Amino acid sequence: QVYVGSLSRLYEALSIEASKTTTAEEIVDCIADKLLIKDGVCYELAEVMADGDGGQDCKERRLGPQEFPVSLQLLWPKREGSHAKGGVGGVGGLVSAQNYKFCLRRKMQTMNWSWSWTDSNDKLIRDYFLRFLYQPRDREYPDLCQLPDLTEQTLLENLKARFDKGHIYTYVGSILIAVNPFKFYPIYNPKYVQLYQSRRLGELPPHIFAIADAAYQAMLRKRSNQCIVISGESGSGKTESTNLLLHHLTALSQKGTHGSGVEQTILGAGPVLEAFGNAKTKHNNNSSRFGKFIQVNYKENGAVHGAVVQKYLLEKSRIVSQVKSERNYHVFYYLLAGATPIDKEEPLDQTNS
Ligand SMILES: Nc1ncnc2c1ncn2[C@@H]1O[C@H](COP(=O)(O)OP(=O)(O)O)[C@@H](O)[C@H]1O
Ligand SMILES: [Mg+2]
Repeated sequence: QVYVGSLSRLYEALSIEASKTTTAEEIVDCIADKLLIKDGVCYELAEVMADGDGGQDCKERRLGPQEFPVSLQLLWPKREGSHAKGGVGGVGGLVSAQNYKFCLRRKMQTMNWSWSWTDSNDKLIRDYFLRFLYQPRDREYPDLCQLPDLTEQTLLENLKARFDKGHIYTYVGSILIAVNPFKFYPIYNPKYVQLYQSRRLGELPPHIFAIADAAYQAMLRKRSNQCIVISGESGSGKTESTNLLLHHLTALSQKGTHGSGVEQTILGAGPVLEAFGNAKTKHNNNSSRFGKFIQVNYKENGAVHGAVVQKYLLEKSRIVSQVKSERNYHVFYYLLAGATPIDKEEPLDQTNS
């Protein structure tokens, strides 16, 4: 049985007769025939594992054209006490665990993106965009779980190979690894916000927006709190990643509605907090010198209601002394930059300072 998603209005899934030696390519051809899809070559099969409640927390792996889906299906864990009653046309005659299934997916490199590009550097962004969407699967793995031979060395080599091609994000299942590029990639513009909305994790190349989207969708579906933990050494990109997550979470909230303005307040609070709590260090020009717990609250309809930021352990000693080649908190430099020449000349009033 292959789930066809939005490709058919009539069927959720199609039953295909297949043997252990039927290839994925043959099954895709067969479905294309049944659904009268002309561009059948643009599709491939994916093996999808959903979480227990059949929701959208999925992991999936694309099948190569020459893989044998029936043989794969025989490896799926079987649901206890569920022996075949013929199944629903199940391939191989066994009813497999409910949370495993095959889905038809559009091949990524042949996706036909039709947006209107209005910026002056359209071509640059479009080229980058298409290159980003095309991620080779034979040498680089977008999900480390797919590595045929998983050792520390193969893991690092894979991350490096991806990084060298400009792919800074890699999944490990539902975890995202971000390697700080220290340069700007045009992968955070509104086109990407739109692209990553309501997609399953793993459906598109790894991206920080996919993580925000998965948490948002899971919150709406399960009606329970979701948590994203960001961890890494100083300068690894935690603060930037947090800002990108907030950016996407607030963009999702504004979808289809007129934002209440609270989204802008949440995003606007970032630079103010950073002025008082971030400073230049040897490792990072914008190092956060405090810990943060950010809680974004939503209304029932998925619109942002407000946010609470708790701070921990601000490095207070920095206010009175800093080690060589480090600086005090940004806010003091901002004050000086904004002061008139006369203000700068005047000594600080000790009684008011
Ligand atoms: N995704 C990214 N793209 C481009 N540059 C980044 C990215 N993440 C981090 N950086 C760069 O690295 C610097 C340090 O990142 P930051 O988030 O402040 O690290 P951390 O909070 O982990 O100490 C940033 O000022 C920025 O220049
Ligand atoms: Mg930081």
